[in-house]
Amino acid sequence: MSKLVHAQWSSKMTFVLAAAGSAVGLGNIWRFSYMVGDSGGAAFVLIYLACVALVGLPILVAEWLIGRRGQENPINAMADLARQNGRLPAWALVGASGVLAAFLILSFYSVIGGWSLSYTLGSVTGRFTGQDADGIGALFGGLLGSPGILTLWHTAFMALVIFIVARGVTKGLEGAVRTLMPGLVLLLIVLVGYGMTTGHFGEALAFMFRPDWSAVTGGVVLAAMGQAFFTLSLGMGIMMAYGSYLGEDVNLVGTARTVIILDTVIALLAGMAIFPIVFANGMSPADGPGLIFVNLPVAFGNMTGGAILGLMFFLLLTFAALTSAISLLEPVVELVEERTPLTRVAATLISGVAVWALGIAALMSFNVWDSVLIFGLNIFDLLDTFTSKVLLPLTGLGAILFVAWCLDRTSVAEELNLAGGKERLWTLVARYVAPIGVIVVFVTGLL
Ligand code: PHE
Repeated sequence: MSKLVHAQWSSKMTFVLAAAGSAVGLGNIWRFSYMVGDSGGAAFVLIYLACVALVGLPILVAEWLIGRRGQENPINAMADLARQNGRLPAWALVGASGVLAAFLILSFYSVIGGWSLSYTLGSVTGRFTGQDADGIGALFGGLLGSPGILTLWHTAFMALVIFIVARGVTKGLEGAVRTLMPGLVLLLIVLVGYGMTTGHFGEALAFMFRPDWSAVTGGVVLAAMGQAFFTLSLGMGIMMAYGSYLGEDVNLVGTARTVIILDTVIALLAGMAIFPIVFANGMSPADGPGLIFVNLPVAFGNMTGGAILGLMFFLLLTFAALTSAISLLEPVVELVEERTPLTRVAATLISGVAVWALGIAALMSFNVWDSVLIFGLNIFDLLDTFTSKVLLPLTGLGAILFVAWCLDRTSVAEELNLAGGKERLWTLVARYVAPIGVIVVFVTGLL
């Protein structure tokens, strides 16, 4: 990560905020809800929760530990630690695939960030007021159908990201995270409250928490694990980079638990806010990436004070997306900066423009290129699927295997402040449960 972020991490609180800022984003609200909808509901949610606890937590801890020990960017940190521990330098590939994943993810993430920006403005101009589900659906369809408008918003979002990363993340942003994050939680709670008044809250809860195990396939399990990686920002070297700015006094396991609980609570709240509205309006939960952009405006357009709530919601969503997007661009910029003679600003511009260009290909899959299919997926879905289901799990697997098997067990236990039964539990999970879980899910999901 940037030296600028580093310089700011004055306290543990700042670190938690930075990590949470990266973790909490479109993944919790936009991606979580549509993945739940597409994958049939509760079974997906429960498998996702299991993945978060058994795979997400240990890998998050492992990534921070690698970063803190390595004190460098992910690729160098992995290479140096491997050398010091008498292992192959090829472990650096774990860092490299993480950076590649960050690059690919940001390209389509920015397209959705652009939707969120466009909806923020749409809320200001009252475009959604009084519209029914069909009206909102038509508005959204119009947005998707127009490559020019999509490009405009994608460009605006990417420009914001480039601007912030080039200048360095300022104190102002940190302060904003501190106030906006609780704001987002509060708003979600208000929306859950609204959901309770729709008369479809019970249906939504059943959809989210009463599993139909017969619908579970290898693909659903892989999707749930992919979501766990995506939402926790794992497998991208981001958490490794964040770890390199950590003081020795931070308790990694405890902090990981805090960040994970926060991230999960936000995702579940989002589901409880969104699904009652979906059912109340007779919409389908399996509508794909457009889910929140169609059903939430319907609710905002028809409730008292909805205009202002809608504006706040999309503003907060955009902000959450920005803090995540910044963390995605950072590793790419850092790599370019270190491996070329370019200055930070030039490195940011070049990386940002490259990401932007790939994003254009992603947004064309909603319109002019919607029939361009690779492995049966359009470019947008291909980018999302390949990263979340292949690159992230493999990078995360590399990180946990490295910490569990290549680093000295006693020193890891000391660093994690674990002893006795807890240490044995950690070793069991880190050596066997998490890696085997990832491998089994990965293999069965791809079959
Ligand atoms: N975790 C972020 C989210 O849930 C997305 C993200 C992925 C951010 C990868 C950084 C890295 O929206």
